[in-house]
Amino acid sequence: MKDYLLFGVAPYVAVTLLLSVSLWRFFFTRYKFSSLSSEFLESKDLFWGSVPWHYGILVLFLGHLIGFLFPREVTLWNSIPIRLIILEATALTFGLLALVGLVLLIKRRMTHPRIRVVTSWMDIVVLVLLLIQVVSGLSTAIIDRWGSSWYVATLVPYVRSVLSLAPNVELISGMSWLVKTHVLGAIVIIGILPFTRLVHFLVPPVSYLWRPYQLVIWNWDRRTIRVPSTKKKAH
Ligand code: HEM
Repeated sequence: MKDYLLFGVAPYVAVTLLLSVSLWRFFFTRYKFSSLSSEFLESKDLFWGSVPWHYGILVLFLGHLIGFLFPREVTLWNSIPIRLIILEATALTFGLLALVGLVLLIKRRMTHPRIRVVTSWMDIVVLVLLLIQVVSGLSTAIIDRWGSSWYVATLVPYVRSVLSLAPNVELISGMSWLVKTHVLGAIVIIGILPFTRLVHFLVPPVSYLWRPYQLVIWNWDRRTIRVPSTKKKAH
């Protein structure tokens, strides 16, 4: 019964919250739909935490996505032992990179007085949840070895059963508490995401790839404004 609530019902509650609250916030409080940067209060420690965290988590996110979209190809890749080791070692490296970045970001929030002032209790909840998630993922990879192989027979059918609205909780029930913690952690993060500054993940600034960093809008004739006498008047 407990497993049914955690792995059969909670995923739908989480996705419903994610969609409804995100859309509500996006349309009604759009200017707060952001990571609420604190870079102008402190930037050096932010850099050393944020860069490894984002590189690590982005690669892991893509890795998880590819793993769930192409399980057959991953199995084929892993059929040669050295390739399995390369895949696991790469995932572990980026996982550790994310962990180091996250620990530095937590330290920054706890130690800088100016950052502490702008830190809400929800920020602390998010950081703790992310820490649990990364540590449980790394522990799964180290203790319940070769997850990139066994996930195909267990977690892929579970995620598919959830997506097809017929959750097969038995696939999860028999797994270790470590794996259960990792899957439950992801469900909680998805549900809590729209209430936190993590929502910025839903609106990555991809348009910056094709538009200039800054849009300079001229309200006057550019040549006239450069004439010294005109400048004086403008000031
Ligand atoms: C917020 C979402 C998630 C985050 C931040 C996250 C993070 C991580 C991290 C840091 C690792 C260790 C990297 C490695 O060495 O493989 C990992 C491994 C793993 N994760 Fe996740 N994860 C998330 C969601 C999920 C979900 C939803 C599932 C499955 C339903 C999952 C299944 C796994 C498995 C099976 C491994 C072990 C892979 C291996 O042994 O190489 N993760 N995760």
